[in-house]
Amino acid sequence: MEYRGSDFYDNPDHFERYMERRKAEENANDTLEKPVFQELLGCVKGLRILDIGCGDANFGRECLANGCAAYVGLEGSINMVHAGRKTLEGWDGQIVHARMEDWDYPQAEYDLVLSRLAIHYVQDLNSLLQNIYQTLKPNGRLLFSIEHPVITSTLQPSGTRTHWVVDNYFTEGYREQQWMGGIVYKYHRSIETYFIALQKAGFVVEQLRESKPVRAHFLTDETYERRLRIPLFLFYSAKKK
Ligand SMILES: C[S@@+](CC[C@H](N)C(=O)[O-])C[C@H]1O[C@@H](n2cnc3c(N)ncnc32)[C@H](O)[C@@H]1O
Repeated sequence: MEYRGSDFYDNPDHFERYMERRKAEENANDTLEKPVFQELLGCVKGLRILDIGCGDANFGRECLANGCAAYVGLEGSINMVHAGRKTLEGWDGQIVHARMEDWDYPQAEYDLVLSRLAIHYVQDLNSLLQNIYQTLKPNGRLLFSIEHPVITSTLQPSGTRTHWVVDNYFTEGYREQQWMGGIVYKYHRSIETYFIALQKAGFVVEQLRESKPVRAHFLTDETYERRLRIPLFLFYSAKKK
């Protein structure tokens, strides 16, 4: 069976493996993705937040604990929706079960739209960015991370690697990957395409970052040095004009 986006996480085996992987020591999300994301995010106090592809909403709970004014997680996988609702029990946050391509985005509702490692599943980036633009208040901000295009250009089976292939970089489209015991499709596009799509939607791109490792986030030199070899994640922070 082949999966695009959230369907993948509705397979119980994939879901379980993914959740296990997220808890693993020195996992890439916690050592590489989250530190940069938090640095770009800054203070969330008083902000109304929409989190696209929110997963188990652990980040939502952190935002609520840090004083955001509202948190809505948008999530396509029902397994993740259940996990997210459990995470937010006792908190004043909400999880909506919908695909990011299909949701009826309210007008000028949010100060911040964030998305961590979900937008690389989506084919129609331009429509998604238009929806995000109109759901933001004036001067609102979009912050998202994706798998780095040098990785998505040529998706290789997950696991520890000694070398990487970057090929067909400018040929954009879905790529198949053996991941977490199944086959998943992620949509490859170049760094430039993301940048231009943001501008076309009306955003001013304020920051572009890669997941450059910081030694303090790793337990061992070995993992740190391995992570210096290739960027895994890419980040954009953009403002509504
Ligand atoms: C790699 S996980 C990241 C989860 C969370 N943002 C985090 O960083 O822990 C990607 C998430 O995006 C969701 N997702 C993928 N495609 C989606 C879509 N089209 N609409 C809504 N959610 C989607 C998946 O179900 C999954 O929960």
